[in-house]
Amino acid sequence: MARMKIAAGNWKMNTNFEEGLQLARDLSNANRPDDVLTLLAVPCTHLKSIIDQTLHVPNLEIAAQNFHHEKNGAYTGETSIGMLSSISAQYALIGHSERREYQRESNELLAQKVKLALEEGITPIFCCGEKLDIRKQGYHLGYVKYQLNEGLFHLSPEEFSKVIIAYEPVWAIGTGETASPQQAQEMHAEMRKSIARQYDQGLADDVSILYGGSVKPKNAKELFSQADVDGGLVGGASLKADSFLEIIHSF
Ligand code: PGA
Repeated sequence: MARMKIAAGNWKMNTNFEEGLQLARDLSNANRPDDVLTLLAVPCTHLKSIIDQTLHVPNLEIAAQNFHHEKNGAYTGETSIGMLSSISAQYALIGHSERREYQRESNELLAQKVKLALEEGITPIFCCGEKLDIRKQGYHLGYVKYQLNEGLFHLSPEEFSKVIIAYEPVWAIGTGETASPQQAQEMHAEMRKSIARQYDQGLADDVSILYGGSVKPKNAKELFSQADVDGGLVGGASLKADSFLEIIHSF
C-alpha cells in the first residue's frame, strides 16, 4: 500500500446512534482535500449504518475499534473479524492503549488479531506507544520498537505492506499534553528505521505512520509537517465536525 496522508478519528465510546450518523453525514458532505483519507473508527453499534451511509463518499472510510482474537465461538458479548467483514468493514484499530491497559491485551494477542484482520482483507491500524515512566527513563524508542517487533514483525513483507501504524504515546492521550513535533518525528523515524532493518527500505518508506495523542486543530499542522508523520489518530477533537475538519485540512 502506498504511503498516504490520513486523518483518522477515533470516537471511542462516544456518540449515540443518531449523533454518530449525523457526525458521519456532516463529514461526508463537507469539503475535504482529495489527497487526504478520512478514516472514522466508530462504535460497533454504528458500524453497519455508517458504512452503508458513506459507501459512495470519496476519501472516507470506516474502521471498527476492536474485534476478538478468536475467529468465533463461545465469547459472549464479543465481535468477530468475520462479522466485521460481513458488513464490509475495511479497517480496524488494533491494540489501542486503552485496550492494552483496560482489557490487558498483550502483544501476543495483538499479533494474532493483526493476522486475523489480514486474512479477512481488513486493514489493521496497529497502535503502539509508551507510558510516561518509560519515556522518563529514556527507554521509549526501544519500547516502541519492541511493540512493533512483537505485534507486527511476524508478518511476511506482503502482509506488512497492508498495515497502517499509529504511534500514540500514552501520556499524551486525552491529557491535552501533546508530543512535540520533534518528539513525534524522532519516534516515527526510528520506527521506519527498524522496519527497514526488518524488511527493506521500500516497505519502510511506504508504510503510513500516524501520530496520536491530543491532536488538535492548533497543533495538527506542525505535527503533520514532520517528514515521517503521515497524519493523525484523533480522539477528542474528532467528535465535532468543525474541529476534525480543521485537522483534515492541516496537511
Ligand atoms: P486524544 O485521543 O486525541 O483524545 O488524545 C487519541 C486516541 O486515543 O486515539
